[in-house]
Amino acid sequence: MTETKVWAKKSTFILAAAGSAIGLGNLWKFPYMVGENGGSAFVLVYLLCVLVIGLPLMMSETIVGKFSNGNAVQAIGLTAHKSNASQAWKGIAIMGIIAIFIILSFYSVIAGWAFDYTLAFASGSMENKQASEMGAFFGELLSDPQRLIMWQGVFIFFTGLIIALGAYKGIEKSLGIIMPILFLLLFIIVGYSSFATGEFKNTVTYMFSPDFSKITPMVVINAMGQAFFSLNLGICVIMTYAAYMQEEVSITRSSIYVASMDTLMAILAGFAIFPIVFANGLDASGGPGLLFVTLSTAFAQLGTVGTVLGASFFFLVILAALSSSISMVEPFVKWCEERFKLNRVVMTILYCLAAWGFGLITVFSFNIWAKVDVLGTGKTPFDLLDFVTSSVMLPLGGLLISLYVGWAMNTKISRDGLSTLGNGMFGLWLFTIRFVAPILILIIFISSVLGEAKMAELIGMITG
Ligand code: TRP
Repeated sequence: MTETKVWAKKSTFILAAAGSAIGLGNLWKFPYMVGENGGSAFVLVYLLCVLVIGLPLMMSETIVGKFSNGNAVQAIGLTAHKSNASQAWKGIAIMGIIAIFIILSFYSVIAGWAFDYTLAFASGSMENKQASEMGAFFGELLSDPQRLIMWQGVFIFFTGLIIALGAYKGIEKSLGIIMPILFLLLFIIVGYSSFATGEFKNTVTYMFSPDFSKITPMVVINAMGQAFFSLNLGICVIMTYAAYMQEEVSITRSSIYVASMDTLMAILAGFAIFPIVFANGLDASGGPGLLFVTLSTAFAQLGTVGTVLGASFFFLVILAALSSSISMVEPFVKWCEERFKLNRVVMTILYCLAAWGFGLITVFSFNIWAKVDVLGTGKTPFDLLDFVTSSVMLPLGGLLISLYVGWAMNTKISRDGLSTLGNGMFGLWLFTIRFVAPILILIIFISSVLGEAKMAELIGMITG
């Protein structure tokens, strides 16, 4: 508990938290979720979720982490101790650590695809490929376990390397390089695709003209789940990073920055992808293949320009994924280091090897186990892992954190944490974290467990 706060610069918490938030969730998942969930309807609900649930929850996690100056388990333990609350609340952090291990195992597989695509574009072999050929390329990649395992391993190796170097040298230094490149590259691609294709206006309409008729219960549920994943809330990642925060840094302001940057990146990803989709008459609701097949096809049609754009874009995806994946290792390693006095490098290597091995479940789900239906759920093993983490563990963690911070933890801790807020704003935050957030999360949680059909039935019953 006496460990000194290690971020050297005030801005590093924002940089690190934004780095962990911005990743495949923004560049790969957000655009296809928009496409699959009715365009602007999804965007609108998503923005509301970030504002109403995401931001207050991020502030809560930051308060706990900053207060303790230690790993997430210790952070909850300490605040609980000071509040005479049960130490059992520490279970939230342990559940979080388990969830992010599973998430890392599949996240690294998908990030691995980006390596393959970066090289394929850089080598010029993608040039002039037609949509069918691009689909075949993607299919070939997925059907080749060795190729997937190799790229996944490469990705995990880089993740582990950054972590092994230590929070100060590793995370802070690498993010200082990664994040600016990330912004720059995305801006260039957005500039190109929005203006060179002449589809800027259509994209604005598609993403922002409110069409309330398209807001269905499922759109709301998906938008909330996406907000959790994208802001990596509910699993103590933000809490871990907040422990390194300098005393004078404002929790409110940092949380607002991080949430807005993450949201901006997702919107920018939309503006990078949709204009190209529209200009080429492609299908916006192409699902998870949107980034890898649809967008790649468009790049391929652009000749040399496309080769450069494609290679830079997928390189950007790798960087974004890397700054996210390090946040999936740090909570566990920090905990082992502080709680059990284990060696940082050794624990990083073991954890990464374990995640690589566990990732085989995901790798095989795209080929030899592609037809496997786990326990009659209609899901492949990968789908199930994704579901259990994103739709169950994250919302559950978020719910518990809001209950813990709102009800169990001494309000004095949160009042001190949010010292820059006036009484009115603090009251609003407290009300949100006590009532609004838990109730909304409970609804999404129950509905995602029940599934779409049951939920529609239930809503039908309620609304008549
Ligand atoms: N938020 C990241 C993204 O959008 C993914 C991520 C990083 C994450 N750390 C996490 C998701 C922890 C869940 C839990 O890509």
